[in-house]
Amino acid sequence: MSTEHGANGGAVPAHVAIIMDGNGRWARARGLPRHAGHSAGVRPVRQCVEQAARRGVKVLTLFAFSSENWRRPREEVSRLMTLFLEALDRELDELHANRVRLRFIGERERLAPALQQRLSAAEMRTRENTGLVLVVAAAYGGQWDMVQAARGLAQRVARGELSPEAIDQAVFEDQRALAGLPGVDLLIRTGGEQRISNFLLWDLAYAELYFTPRLWPAFTTGDFDAALAEFAARRRRFGRTDEQLQADALPQVTEASR
Ligand code: IPE
Ligand code: IPE
Ligand code: MG
Repeated sequence: MSTEHGANGGAVPAHVAIIMDGNGRWARARGLPRHAGHSAGVRPVRQCVEQAARRGVKVLTLFAFSSENWRRPREEVSRLMTLFLEALDRELDELHANRVRLRFIGERERLAPALQQRLSAAEMRTRENTGLVLVVAAAYGGQWDMVQAARGLAQRVARGELSPEAIDQAVFEDQRALAGLPGVDLLIRTGGEQRISNFLLWDLAYAELYFTPRLWPAFTTGDFDAALAEFAARRRRFGRTDEQLQADALPQVTEASR
């Protein structure tokens, strides 16, 4: 592809992750309670899932509830859980019809048993689907993920299934919550804060970061496309030099022009 399409060759990110932030501020600006902002945040979730599939994104990972969000008032936590359950019940048929494969990551044991059951059932029901992989991070923290990966490896070593020397990057990657899925190409955070807030850590190693002041309930498909356009214009070097990237691109051009 020519550089007219941007330094990244007009590429669509295979894996997009979103920190959906700003629900509380959206509600407060309207004189509404915080939970009204969370309810209003369901529509953009639906729209982003549809838009991601339309644009050829393979994996969409959404941060719904962090390890630290347990510190919020009990009432708010409870409303968020109810909303999650209701949205899942309401959307599952359509997601399945659209061949979306669902996956949930996080400390599931901390969720209500009824919710845990629904998550497993939704994963089972959609596991053969070949469309967009939709990952929802709930009760998730990047540090928890690293620790559970380390624990899993230690258990395999203790059982004699794995030798410590055999632990390399690939073996560790297979122990992540997102095992089998590629690293994040593009991270979007709405709501204006410029931090990771203990979201994916390992998986964001080479992600392009995109921060927008737009509050999550007001996020549109146009905003999603704007993030994709910005991604397409970024130059991803992965540690190499521009000259190396250009040299790598040359043989392809020659090949194509034969
Ligand atoms: C994000 O919006 C939703 C969750 C963290 C569950 P917030 O609730 O954090 O909204 P602000 O940041 O207070 O505006
Ligand atoms: C991050 O947002 C978590 C989710 C969007 C689920 P927070 O609103 O919890 O992040 P902080 O507390 O401002 O860092
Ligand atoms: Mg917030």
